[in-house]
Order: sequence, then structure tokens, then C-alpha cells
Amino acid sequence: MIIKKADIETVAVKPSQYPEANVPEIAFAGRSNVGKSSLLNLLTNRRNLARTSGNPGKTRTINFYRINDEFRIVDLPGYGYAKISRSQSEGWGEMIEMYLEGRPTLLKVIQLVDIRHAPSVQDVQMYEYLRHFGLDGIVVATKADKVSTNEKQKCISVIKKTLGLSAEDKVIPVSTLKKTGYDMLLDELEQLIEASASVTE
Ligand code: GTP
Ligand code: MG
Repeated sequence: MIIKKADIETVAVKPSQYPEANVPEIAFAGRSNVGKSSLLNLLTNRRNLARTSGNPGKTRTINFYRINDEFRIVDLPGYGYAKISRSQSEGWGEMIEMYLEGRPTLLKVIQLVDIRHAPSVQDVQMYEYLRHFGLDGIVVATKADKVSTNEKQKCISVIKKTLGLSAEDKVIPVSTLKKTGYDMLLDELEQLIEASASVTE
């Protein structure tokens, strides 16, 4: 797939602010600072479409991006950001859950994990939650430039094992710095969108 057109459509903190549920959506979930917004910029080839930051907690709203007038990518706030109050963190959790559980057009959630570390307890919880709702699918290992080619397979095995994936399940290593891995991810996205189109035809 080639992304020719990408625009921010809506920024929301509650369901009444979501755009009309009229096209399929793919959401990005993951720990704060894992690289969700950077990945969106890489996929769309737009350096500043989504704001990124070296400090965790940059994205604090649910951001809907319209892609090729065909589907949406939804950038979610990250979890596991220590420097916010418990009530704020619960508020974010609720905001994310409301979207994940109440959105009829949500096809799949792409779970992002940092390639360098075993997935955290919260990553595992998130993935199990997605699995429970049938939203699990693609796992992306971010910051692939931070490990050597030799280490890469080992890191991916640890990720698979910790998230309870089978050997055949895919984990796609991506580097937004080196601009690698996104072509494979775009192919996966295309398959998801096509499969959803054939169901609704
Ligand atoms: P929140 O909005 O806080 O949830 O974070 P996020 O997941 O959207 O992360 P963001 O895209 O803002 O990236 C966080 C930091 O990681 C930034 O400093 C990015 O430059 C850096 N980063 C993202 N992807 C990569 C990558 O592939 N390689 C390297 N080396 N750094 C990356
Ligand atoms: Mg972000």
C-alpha cells in the first residue's frame, strides 16, 4: 500500500467527539515513549503529522488520522507513564478502554513494544486485553536500530514468549530512525483493510 494522503481528522477525549464511524480504523497502543506517534509519521512519510517527544506522555488525547480517504489510524495515549497522578492515569485508562470497547469500526490494534526490553507487565496486560476482545493482531518491535542484527532475533523471541505468541506469529521490527520495517507493516495494514472491505461488500 502507498499512503498518498494523511490528515489529522479529530482529536478526542470522549466518544461524543469521535468522528463518524464510517471507515475501518487501526489503532496504535503501547507504553508511553515507545514510538507510536513516530511510527505514524514514518508510515505516512510526514515528519510532523503527529507530535513526538523524548519525554513520555506526549500524546494525551485520542487522535484520529484519515488515510487515503479509506481508513483511519488512531494514535492512542501511551500507558505506563510514571509522572502523572493516579487519578489522571485512571482517566487515561478509561479513555482508552472506552474507545477500544465501544468502537464498532475498530478492526485491529497494533501493539508496540520496545525491541530492547522484555514486554512490561502492562504490555502483557494490554495484549491480553486485546486478545480478549479479538483486537490483537500485529505486534511491532520499535527502535530496532538500537540492537544489532545478531541480537534482533533473540529480542523478538523474548517478546513473543512474554506476550504468549506462537513461533509463527509475526513481530515486525521497525526503526523510524533508519526508516526500516515500515514496508512490511504497510503490507499487513493493506491486508487488514482489504479483508474488512470484503466482509462488508
Ligand atoms: P507518547 O505519546 O508519550 O505515548 O509516546 P509515543 O509512543 O507516541 O512516542 P514518540 O513517537 O513520541 O517517540 C518517543 C521517543 O522515541 C522520541 O524521542 C522518538 O524520537 C524516539 N523514537 C521513536 N521511534 C524510534 C526509533 O525507531 N529509533 C530510535 N532510536 N528512536 C525512536
Ligand atoms: Mg505519541
